[in-house]
Amino acid sequence: ACKPHTMPLREISTKPYPDQKFGTAGLRKKVAVFQQPHYLENLLQSIFDCVPELKGKTLVIGGDGRYHNRAAIQTAIAMAAANGVAKVLVGQGGIVSTPAVSHLIRLHAAAGGLVFSASHNPAGPDGDFGVKFNIANGGQAGETSTDRIFARTREIASYRISEGPKIDLDRRGLSRLDQTEVEVIDGVADYAALMQKLFDFELMRAWIKRGGRVCFDSMHAVTGPYAQRILVEQLGAPAHSLLNSQPLEDFGGGHPDPNLIYAKHLLDLSNTATSPALLAASDGDGDRNMILGAGVFISPGDSLAMLAAHLHKLPGYKNGIAGIARSMPTCRAADVVAAHLGVPCYETPTGWKFFCNLLDADRITLCGEESFGTGSIHVREKDGLWAVLAWLNILAVTGQPLRELASAHWRQHGRHYYQRHDYDELPTDKAASVLEGLKAQFAALPGTTLGGWTVTAADEFAYDDPIDGSRATAQGLRVVFGDAARLIVRLSGTGTKGATLRLYFERYEQSADKLDMSTREALNPLVTLADKLLRVTELTGRKAPDVVT
Ligand code: G1P
Ligand code: ZN
Repeated sequence: ACKPHTMPLREISTKPYPDQKFGTAGLRKKVAVFQQPHYLENLLQSIFDCVPELKGKTLVIGGDGRYHNRAAIQTAIAMAAANGVAKVLVGQGGIVSTPAVSHLIRLHAAAGGLVFSASHNPAGPDGDFGVKFNIANGGQAGETSTDRIFARTREIASYRISEGPKIDLDRRGLSRLDQTEVEVIDGVADYAALMQKLFDFELMRAWIKRGGRVCFDSMHAVTGPYAQRILVEQLGAPAHSLLNSQPLEDFGGGHPDPNLIYAKHLLDLSNTATSPALLAASDGDGDRNMILGAGVFISPGDSLAMLAAHLHKLPGYKNGIAGIARSMPTCRAADVVAAHLGVPCYETPTGWKFFCNLLDADRITLCGEESFGTGSIHVREKDGLWAVLAWLNILAVTGQPLRELASAHWRQHGRHYYQRHDYDELPTDKAASVLEGLKAQFAALPGTTLGGWTVTAADEFAYDDPIDGSRATAQGLRVVFGDAARLIVRLSGTGTKGATLRLYFERYEQSADKLDMSTREALNPLVTLADKLLRVTELTGRKAPDVVT
């Protein structure tokens, strides 16, 4: 199908690939799928066709370093040149984290950015690869735009690509491909400079110098070079503070998803007598975070709430926060702090895009999800290392151990016990039957008492965006027991095989004698109640969840 290499610019005919279901979370497929001839090119050309703003403007390109990253980046650069992009900014070695891409887009007033990543999905020749597209505000392209791009992939018949030489991704500097300027930049520097504006580096350096210990696990993914530069070179943490900081194309065979399963070694370390004061991990593309202190795991919902309570102590947030947002299944700990501070707390559907409108409109400063995502107004993606630095700064400014900060927080605001149970790879109809079964009981539930709690509401969550007026429906089922507890059920929108059913359990306790339960003990009555209400085992044949986080 390919014509001989005669012209610097080629128009290559191709067929559509019907499986390129490009959505707001991008496209994730096995590496082998992306390696098919013209496959990536089809998708990229569809993006160039649907986003004419890229012509004559800057495009940022980066990736999480996984297998196929470099090949994909060369293709993207060659196609950007053939499609009239004026300038490409690409990270050295092809490495740029998702939040750093978001920042680069905003800093350099780029028209968009491409991130080659499948987030925390395993990498390597047999692993996954992925493409995400971010727009000029630094956030992921919205649904209208990704729908248009997807539609284009189904009708596309040709793409344009430059025949020029490959770019040396390892050497920083400026070169030219046809009419396009290509600059290989240090993918860490601008991000590190942003962190220096937000946080008190002097104070953190002094804290580390006094013996404050940190352990940060990059899980052989993108944050290694960021952690090396910021934590070690700029903040003076000893090199052994970093684990797995060398990005590897197969992530070392691991699963870079920072949670209590895949980063259990940090939990184990935190429970030893010699635990560092702060232990943390980030995921494949650097947007997720997990936070622990000596003897304490800070759940993402607690992390959001506690950050909200302390953020004004950090230089970049000294004027306080305008508001907070959390995704609906995320526990309501942030709501309690927001009420205390007298700022609004928005409840949005799952997914970062709903936060971006609120951030752009300055309605919120801070936002987060239960799925180990936390972020602020500084970029339009969740930001793993940002959360780690925010916590480090809080430890340095308060001089208190994380465990004490958590206890004090719970004493003041009460504690939300929280857990998520995932049932993976269910047949779609079986997963749907669980939701239908619960929905059928909605009318009868309010006023009934289950497990000692009285149902105050049972509904399907819908969201009216206060900025653009759009309405998102069918965003998960909730059974609410006043402030005391919630049970949430929804289907994952990101799974790649079958349907993933997610159950979320939340219990709120304010009395002093109930602040130190184990999460399992605290949530057991709610789990028992959910068994009866949802009949997951009966309807799906599954005896237990696949993943509990
Ligand atoms: C999951 C998380 C959600 C997050 C998304 C992208 O989506 O639950 O919070 O925004 O991944 O990282 P889900 O599979 O639940 O639709
Ligand atoms: Zn990620």
